[in-house]
Amino acid sequence: MPTATRHITTAPLARPVTFNAPTPNTAHTRVRGAEPGDEHDIAALIAAWSEQGLTLPRTAQQVVECIGEFAVAELNQHNHTRLLACGSLSIFSPSIAEIRSVAVHPDAKGKGLGKGVVERLVEEAQLLGVDRLVLLTRVPQFFRRCQFHDIDANELPSAFLQEAIAGRGRSIEGRAVMTRPLY
Ligand SMILES: CC(C)(COP(=O)(O)OP(=O)(O)OC[C@H]1O[C@@H](n2cnc3c(N)ncnc32)[C@H](O)[C@@H]1OP(=O)(O)O)[C@@H](O)C(=O)NCCC(=O)NCCS
Repeated sequence: MPTATRHITTAPLARPVTFNAPTPNTAHTRVRGAEPGDEHDIAALIAAWSEQGLTLPRTAQQVVECIGEFAVAELNQHNHTRLLACGSLSIFSPSIAEIRSVAVHPDAKGKGLGKGVVERLVEEAQLLGVDRLVLLTRVPQFFRRCQFHDIDANELPSAFLQEAIAGRGRSIEGRAVMTRPLY
C-alpha cells in the first residue's frame, strides 16, 4: 500500500541557538545514537544541503532502514528538543567503514555539532574494530579538522569503489576522498 509523502524541510529555529549556557534548563546539547522516530528530522537535515550538492538526499524511509548507523546532536532548550546535526557510519568490510550524510542545521553551523557527531561515529567505528574510515566530501577543510587526510581515489579498494560508490549510483566526481586510520 502506498504511504503518504511527508514534506521534508528544516524549519528555521525559533530562537537563536545558545550553547554551553550555565544551566541545563536554558541550553543543553548532547550527541547520541539515533532511534526510530528520528528519521524525518534526519532526512530534513540531509535535504537542507542536497540542492547544493553537499549531501546526497536520503528519504526518511531510507534513513529508518539503517537508523542504527546514525548519530545525532540534539538541543534541549526551553524544554523543547530538536535535532540539529546528524551523520552515519556505514560498515563496508571488517577493515573499512564510510562516514556519510554529515549535516548540521543551517542555523546551527560553526558551533562544534558537526565535529561532535563525527567524533561519535569515530568512537563507534573504534568499538567495532574497524581499521580505517573513509569518506567523500566537498568540504575537506572541515574533515581535516576532524583528523582526516586526503588520499587518491585509487588508494581505495576497488571493491569499495565498485560496490559502495558506483554500485549505488554515487560518484567521486568533484569530491575529495579522505581517510582516517583508527589503529
Ligand atoms: C560541514 C559541516 C558538517 C560542519 O559542521 P559544523 O558544526 O558547522 O562545524 P564545527 O563547528 O563542528 O567545526 C569544526 C571545525 O571545522 C571547521 N570548519 C567547519 N566547517 C568548515 C568549512 N566549511 N570550511 C573550513 N573549516 C570548517 C571549524 O572552523 C572548526 O575548526 P576548529 O576545530 O579549529 O574549531 C556543516 O557546516 C554542514 O552541515 N555543512 C553542509 C553539509 C555538508 O557539507 N556536509 C558534509 C557532507 S560530506
